[in-house]
Amino acid sequence: MEPKKPKTTISVFKADVGGPGHIMPFPGMIDEVRRYLEANGQGIYKSFHVSSTGDDIAIIVGHQRGPNDKALHELCYKAFIAATNVAKGLNAYAAGQDLFDTAFCGNLAGMGPQIIEMEIDERKGETVVLFCMDKTRAGAFSGAFRRACGTVEFNTGLLHSVKMQQGFVFEVLDNYYNGPGERVIRLNSNSEMPALAALLVVEDRYVIKSITSAATGELCAMVSTFCLDRSSSTHVGKDDPVALFRVQGGFTALGDVLGVFALCFLVGGGMRGSHKVVLMPVEVGTCVSDGDGPAVVSAQVFCINEGVLTDPTDGFKQPTWDKVREKASRINSWLRSIEPDGVTLPLNEIEYHGIQDTLEALQPRFEIVNVPAAT
Ligand code: F6R
Ligand code: MG
Ligand code: MG
Repeated sequence: MEPKKPKTTISVFKADVGGPGHIMPFPGMIDEVRRYLEANGQGIYKSFHVSSTGDDIAIIVGHQRGPNDKALHELCYKAFIAATNVAKGLNAYAAGQDLFDTAFCGNLAGMGPQIIEMEIDERKGETVVLFCMDKTRAGAFSGAFRRACGTVEFNTGLLHSVKMQQGFVFEVLDNYYNGPGERVIRLNSNSEMPALAALLVVEDRYVIKSITSAATGELCAMVSTFCLDRSSSTHVGKDDPVALFRVQGGFTALGDVLGVFALCFLVGGGMRGSHKVVLMPVEVGTCVSDGDGPAVVSAQVFCINEGVLTDPTDGFKQPTWDKVREKASRINSWLRSIEPDGVTLPLNEIEYHGIQDTLEALQPRFEIVNVPAAT
């Protein structure tokens, strides 16, 4: 009998640590993250890749040390600090924004960056997509992932694989829960689709945390759910989530999960995190510069072999995506032409407090008029 292979962990760490006004990091900052990881991480990772989407830098690491490995977390934390120092040297805007001013205590979780750590038994031909979003929040993945796993219109596997018809188990997190631990619910995308859809339309509150195959119990996808503005008393930026999504075989086909983003979803995000914006699928490394938006999503596809990641393939490079970007751009222009009316998020979802402050200042000027005379 062959000895059991060690599990592989794919860890993703993503942070906005500055740049020219929230559109993209300076190239020297990305180079510095790479340099730092190469110089200091031998023996910790099997492989890594560094990229940017909008103003965020994402590090994806393949290794066999399991989730929450202190050495890896510290390495990536220090790599972000190194990029922050480059940003500070350039007097870049918002240098170090997503790194909370707290001492590193062994884990990057809760310190600002978005994190996902997916521990798997590698399949033959293991293929995984790293999705990175900018100018939006975790719920921006819901419309795409619900369709990509749970609907015949977007997942051809549901028609052609009886096994897949057992559905996927969506673990949905209540983002407004303030108590100890996390408040989650698990729903099957086959037997409970209307309930799942009902939860996920509440985009700010109920967010997908993970998706597993009901047939095999294998982990299909994970979304980063760290919520910056509920973790700090002051505004610190938009969450800009990342997700890992395994594809092919018992999971959704790669083309299916990418293709669903052609719908150009409307998500909470841009304009200082206060508006509904269109979600544009972009090539990795794209800057975000059309009115603090639109929200963007990039897709890098990797194969992985015993923790060693291939170079990524850009999922949104095919010429079709230029047409989709044109569509998103048109929607974006229209939304910008009518803002703030109708596109501003509910007050409790806005990161900045300017509107609340204005409304409070106006309260004393309200008068009660036209009170009917007592009969
Ligand atoms: C935040 C971000 C942007 C900013 C916006 C205004 O990470 O990417 O949406 O919120 O550009 O930034 P400030 O308030 O710093 O001028
Ligand atoms: Mg930013
Ligand atoms: Mg960002």
